[in-house]
Amino acid sequence: MTDWVFGYGSLVWRPAFPYLERRPAAIHGWLRRFWQASTDHRGTPEAPGRVVTLTEEPGAVTWGTAYALDPAQRERILAELDHREKDGYLRLHLPLDFGDGPGDISALVYVAGPDNLNYLGPASVSAMAEQVGGAVGPSGANVEYVVRLAEALRAMGRPDPHVEAIEARLEATGEAKDG
Ligand code: BEZ
Repeated sequence: MTDWVFGYGSLVWRPAFPYLERRPAAIHGWLRRFWQASTDHRGTPEAPGRVVTLTEEPGAVTWGTAYALDPAQRERILAELDHREKDGYLRLHLPLDFGDGPGDISALVYVAGPDNLNYLGPASVSAMAEQVGGAVGPSGANVEYVVRLAEALRAMGRPDPHVEAIEARLEATGEAKDG
């Protein structure tokens, strides 16, 4: 059986592993939010960035990218993802919606819940954007993460209002270039 991985953050535009197939897909009942601190990718322990996690919300639909893994490489890829997301992410299996409703194919989804050390939770759009604007980590500027995610979701025809709001605030304050 083919294993699928669902990306809703950097995995939307940068898979970081080989795959057999990638398809735009959604999961239901979970909402994307910039509620997780990043101290090792898009920030540092001194100035943590903000990255997305998912929070359970009845009726919510979150679009991202689903990747079908090559069975020959699955063990190595999952081990790498587990290591990369070692700081408190849960592994869920959620049904994928490829555009016609949730179906028979489920994907592995990493979710950082309120009980992990890097969980920040809700804040105002301006506070989140200010934190993003001041954070840079080994993977690059936190602003780039927001802009790339917003662009990738727009390119799929699935803009996310939460991501758009933070990007717009970054543009308004001069942290991200408009256009
Ligand atoms: C993502 O980029 O979609 C992602 C990957 C692992 C954990 C959380 C999000």
